[in-house]
Amino acid sequence: MKRRSFLQLGFAGVGALTLTKNTQALEYYPVKSDKKIAVIYSTWCGSSRDAAVWISEGMGGIADVFDIREKPDLKGYEHIIIGGSIRSFATSKELQDFIQQNKGVLKGKVRGLFAVCGNMGNPITPELTKQYIDDHLAKMCEVTKVPAKVLRGRITKSLMEPENAKMMASFQDYDNLKRDECMALGKEIMDSIK
Ligand SMILES: Cc1cc2nc3c(=O)[nH]c(=O)nc-3n(C[C@H](O)[C@H](O)[C@H](O)COP(=O)(O)O)c2cc1C
Repeated sequence: MKRRSFLQLGFAGVGALTLTKNTQALEYYPVKSDKKIAVIYSTWCGSSRDAAVWISEGMGGIADVFDIREKPDLKGYEHIIIGGSIRSFATSKELQDFIQQNKGVLKGKVRGLFAVCGNMGNPITPELTKQYIDDHLAKMCEVTKVPAKVLRGRITKSLMEPENAKMMASFQDYDNLKRDECMALGKEIMDSIK
């Protein structure tokens, strides 16, 4: 879909989009930019989706934001930010496979990384940053020293698969994801690619 403002699209356009079989994310650019930036994320219950959107907002809202399950074609992008939620000490297999399969197109374009984890509600430590950024995402993406952050996520049992919700039954839901932290990472990434 051609770049355009949501406000210019109008209701007829929105209706047409919702009826199209192969739908694409509605692109909304509050600020004009000639940069081609994609934020791609992997999530189970939505924390990383919100983190990805807020990272884009920190960049001025100019990035296209994709769920990894859309298998986005990244060829046209100059700058790519990658992140995902943690389960059993790693991001999803879908994200890992996608990175592996897109090594060529990602080469030299990965500008930022993020991981979202529960860490049992505890603060993020340098050890966790090493574990999820340096030894995991950065290693898979073959980058060093790009802006990156481990973000605290949330538990929403009503959005989990029944077996996981049951396993978590004795834990309270919580929400530690912070929009301002995500936006600050987006701004840091944007400053690094200006
Ligand atoms: C089955 C399961 C396994 C998890 N494993 C970990 C883990 O190994 N380390 C961690 O810090 N958080 C873990 N979490 C917490 C998630 O990382 C946290 O809830 C995160 O916000 C989920 O992101 P999402 O909403 O994008 O799926 C786990 C959560 C579930 C439901």
